[in-house]
Amino acid sequence: MSWLLLSTFCLLFYSTYCATDDTKTDNVVVDCSTLRMGQYICPDPNQNQIDSATQQYVGCTKGKDVPSEGEANVWCIAADKIICNETKNSTFYKKMPCKWTNGYSLEIALLLSVFLGMFGLDRFYLGYPGIGLAKLCTLGFMFLGQLLDIILIAAQVVGPSDGSAYVIPYYGAGVTVVRSDNETYLLPQADWHNIT
Ligand SMILES: *[C@@H]1O[C@H](CO)[C@@H](O)[C@H](O)[C@H]1NC(C)=O
Ligand SMILES: *[C@@H]1O[C@H](CO)[C@@H](O)[C@H](O)[C@H]1NC(C)=O
Ligand SMILES: *[C@@H]1O[C@H](CO)[C@@H](O)[C@H](O)[C@H]1NC(C)=O
Repeated sequence: MSWLLLSTFCLLFYSTYCATDDTKTDNVVVDCSTLRMGQYICPDPNQNQIDSATQQYVGCTKGKDVPSEGEANVWCIAADKIICNETKNSTFYKKMPCKWTNGYSLEIALLLSVFLGMFGLDRFYLGYPGIGLAKLCTLGFMFLGQLLDIILIAAQVVGPSDGSAYVIPYYGAGVTVVRSDNETYLLPQADWHNIT
């Protein structure tokens, strides 16, 4: 009986003094740039990092090869009990892909295309004065070209001539082009002969 009492006391003692100590020392300090997916949230939802004018991350820069595929440094937050060695707290800076925009709005382009497309105003707005002039002189290729442009702009196939992306609400209907490359394509693997 006394043994049971003693062990209960020990357990109580342990859980009140030692266990709480454990949780304090549980924090690990790591280089947060090495964290894997699921160990952090990017961007940090506690901070508003979306520029209201561009509807992209604040500081989104123009991409090198494809202008619209830019990058921005955003604050991210690591999972519980992970401390980043660069900031000494759980937040860290990370480069995230974003769309570089230059003030061209999809709504304006689409409205111009639907109502004034026969005069080529959508093309003038997006920076294609040649096609715009051709549409102006031919009444939008007898409205056929206008219809085509409405579809092309709505599908975001035709974008601003400077290669930027349309300004679309961040959580809106932006189109992301997913290209097939050597990372998405399923290549034959060496051990595939095991499966018949
Ligand atoms: C964080 O840790 C990494 C790897 O351990 C190290 O290369 C880096 O210099 C550290 N950064 C700082 C600010 O201490
Ligand atoms: C974390 O540290 C960075 C740099 O020291 C600081 O800018 C940031 O405000 C800190 N974040 C929190 C949540 O304390
Ligand atoms: C895919 O191709 C790029 C360049 O063409 C190369 O840098 C990269 O390592 C390749 N990835 C794989 C998984 O082969």
